Amino acid sequence: MARIAVFGAGYVGLVTGACFADLGHDVRVRDVLPERIEELTAGRVPIHEPGLADVIERASDRLSFTLDAADALEGADFAFIAVGTPPTYSGDPDLSAVWTVIEELPAATRVTLVMKSTVPPGTGDKVRRALDARGLGDVVYVSNPEFLAEGTAVRDFMRPDRVVVGAFEPEHVEPVAALYEPLGSTIVRTDVASAEMIKLASNAFLSTRISFINEIASVCELVGADVIDVAHGIGLDPRLGPHFLKAGLGFGGSCFPKDVSALKQLAGNSGYHFQLLSAVIEVNELQKRRVIQKLGKHLGDLHGKRIAVLGLAFKPGTDDLREAPSLVIAARLVAEGAEVRAWDPVADARHLLPDVTFSASVLDAVRDTDAAVIVTEWPELADLASAEVRDAMRTPVIIDGRNLLDPEAARALGFVYEGVGRPGPSETAR
Ligand code: UDX
Ligand code: UDX
Repeated sequence: MARIAVFGAGYVGLVTGACFADLGHDVRVRDVLPERIEELTAGRVPIHEPGLADVIERASDRLSFTLDAADALEGADFAFIAVGTPPTYSGDPDLSAVWTVIEELPAATRVTLVMKSTVPPGTGDKVRRALDARGLGDVVYVSNPEFLAEGTAVRDFMRPDRVVVGAFEPEHVEPVAALYEPLGSTIVRTDVASAEMIKLASNAFLSTRISFINEIASVCELVGADVIDVAHGIGLDPRLGPHFLKAGLGFGGSCFPKDVSALKQLAGNSGYHFQLLSAVIEVNELQKRRVIQKLGKHLGDLHGKRIAVLGLAFKPGTDDLREAPSLVIAARLVAEGAEVRAWDPVADARHLLPDVTFSASVLDAVRDTDAAVIVTEWPELADLASAEVRDAMRTPVIIDGRNLLDPEAARALGFVYEGVGRPGPSETAR
């Protein structure tokens, strides 16, 4: 069994550390936030991630937390870097937290450094040069990107579609690959730059699929087709597959927007205009705003109207609000002079949306409103189209930004219903 240090106790660092401890390794997770280490040491889990608390508890005798880098590295065979790499204004990722870890490595460290944070291709070369410049030539550097989706991260770690391990020397791949052996997954053995690119390109391609189906949805609205059936028909072709073809009001989260921008910026920095990704980003921004147009179509001027925004997290199963479409939609509505009520089962956006009223229940949120918008497809919203909700609303208009509901059932109950890329209502509320 190995002794593993993990830098960064966020979504990726905590899930990675806890799962490796669950596989029998001795793991010490380091974070710079004292309150985060305090909470974890006290047995509390600071993020909403299904199944993680159980894994942490089950592996607690092999899992510890520290603020001190040297303490984390003591006797370590591997040091995984999973610190935040948030976007900067230019779209380039902020790698300062990564460099901090490199600088904190004690002289004469002999650990294998494993990059899990998403970094642009070419970063590994820079890290290698920095290590050599510090006389840390014995430190082996390996790229091992993560593909964990929030809400299913523990399962994604334990049952990966593939594990990617990139190194400067082929023999450096094996010790890291061996850590994943018990999972029985395909191991992609490659060089550092290709491993870095696999991660960015995977997220960029998934985002492209989403923007593509969202554009198809817009055309469906013009020609009276149903995007749900269209996606189904497309997805049966094994060359295309059914995944990530759910039309909606745009993708968000800590990864897709950031990684698409990072890849576009990376190409731009080298003089190549990545047109496709420019379009993916533009389509995604427009998709969030189409909701406002749809509301205007049914309600006219939104000034003074009361709108319920249902779901704030960037997707169900998480409390994460990073790049959540809900933030743009709520802010747009406020800018139009509408009064906004919001509801989410776990995400707390009070610090991000000061002009919005937050409701403890769906029914409270829709009471006396002129329309309700489904922004996150929480299961609690699956039966939103009820007589109780219809009677509580001022005008029973539902804009279903995630195609969660059955249009005919909603209309049969007297709602004016509009989805994304679904055959439109024959009537409007006005
Ligand atoms: C992070 C990266 O942001 C992402 O690019 C990568 O794909 C996966 O890892 P995530 O785990 O979601 O994503 O980030 P976050 O939840 O923000 O956690 C990062 C943690 O690193 C935070 O707890 C933060 O306190 C910690 N951190 C940050 C350090 O320990 N040291 C630092 O210098 C900076
Ligand atoms: C993503 C990747 O899935 C994961 O492999 C990577 O490691 C990190 O980034 P995550 O950001 O947690 O994971 O969420 P994901 O489930 O991929 O959804 C991202 C966004 O796309 C969400 O806003 C979601 O609502 C949206 N989405 C997803 C769609 O609009 N349509 C789809 O068909 C799928």
